[in-house]
Amino acid sequence: MKFRRPKGTKDVLPKDIAKWHYVERIIRETTELFGFAEIRTPTFENTELFKRGVGTDTDIVGKEMYTFEDKGGDSLTLRPEGTAPVMRAYVENGMQSESPIHKLYYLTSMFRHEKPQAGRYREHTQFGAEIVGSDHYYCDVELILLAKEVYNRCGIQDFRLKLNSIGKAEERRNYVEILKSYLNSNIEHLSEESKRRLETNTLRVLDSKDMNDRKVTDLAPKILDHLGSESRTRFDNVVNELSRLGVKHEVDFRIVRGLDYYTDTTFEFLSDDLGSQDALGGGGRYDGLIEQLGGKPTPGVGFGSGVERLIIVAEKNGFAFGEQKAPLVYFIALSDEARKICYGIMRDLRKLDVSCETDLLGRSFKAQMREANKLNCRYVYIIGDDELQKKKGQLKSMATGDQVETEFGKIKENIE
Ligand code: HAM
Repeated sequence: MKFRRPKGTKDVLPKDIAKWHYVERIIRETTELFGFAEIRTPTFENTELFKRGVGTDTDIVGKEMYTFEDKGGDSLTLRPEGTAPVMRAYVENGMQSESPIHKLYYLTSMFRHEKPQAGRYREHTQFGAEIVGSDHYYCDVELILLAKEVYNRCGIQDFRLKLNSIGKAEERRNYVEILKSYLNSNIEHLSEESKRRLETNTLRVLDSKDMNDRKVTDLAPKILDHLGSESRTRFDNVVNELSRLGVKHEVDFRIVRGLDYYTDTTFEFLSDDLGSQDALGGGGRYDGLIEQLGGKPTPGVGFGSGVERLIIVAEKNGFAFGEQKAPLVYFIALSDEARKICYGIMRDLRKLDVSCETDLLGRSFKAQMREANKLNCRYVYIIGDDELQKKKGQLKSMATGDQVETEFGKIKENIE
């Protein structure tokens, strides 16, 4: 029987891994530059966490979770997103008492049973960042600046940043009633999906991609006109500060996000290089979530960004990912005795951080030279019978072809 990977998953092969390492390094370095510390939570959580945190009427919880009962009868779910688990960990570990503010990030797999297509996977890698403990609008700005900096450092300049505010719970409840009544009066023009959402998750009708839905929602009452003064001021502050800092953005009433925990600011980074799955990243504020999960009322804001999508866009923009470093010295042993000596030298050099490689297939001298060339090694060190006698091998520079007799223990001194 031939096994295949499960639908919607991917293998990252060694030929592509340098890209991943490079992007992961950019993400970590940039995020730490902004003062964020990494947090790691389990791959699975109690199912109730997502029901409570993300909301049962959302697509994620309603349709996409990998939920299973374990042998002890507990209902567990593979993490579909990172915010609810991180806030669970924040409350459970009493992080609030350690410091009034935490800046946290994660870079890990998320699992959603979605219909796979270009840029949409059932297991994707997400980079996310959260600021917990402050409701200052500068937190919202800081997260947007962080995402932008990561994208820029991956060679992505031409994304679009769209912003909106969905207000506080109370404001949103009132607005949803107004929106519902408008949509009901136009119900005959809505798609079946939007008719269903009208009842279960009304705001999501606004981000439908169906053209007829969009004609209806273009003329719908807008939430920004129904915000209280606090929410409105916060939104204006975020928008003005982004303008002052030179961050291009547009206000878009359709950015309502698909998770229930959001309050006030919502935003998405979109890229035309992604096709229909055009969200490079997205996030927003979630001032009620921690309380919802049993913690003290604590504000928070964050975003998540798909790493596969980031790599897709970076590649389309011709970004020069670094390459995996070639071994510095390739050892060619011409006898079993020489091989033993090679292994001793390689052990010592590797301790000194000199990368070494050798043949493990019993190939001919010529084939080993070809291999050293293919691997892009800078040097070859050859030990034959003569060299064994003299305790000096031939150190050959692959760039110049120069060959120098070099003592077994003096290789490091003779390479650049
Ligand atoms: P999200 O918008 O559901 O938000 O996901 C964030 C990003 O993850 C998306 O913009 C996209 O780049 C990527 N993504 C999501 N699903 C897939 C998929 N099936 N395949 C590939 N990439 C995908 C959240 O998850 C929130 N927790 C973000 C957040 C953090 N909000 C506040 N803090």
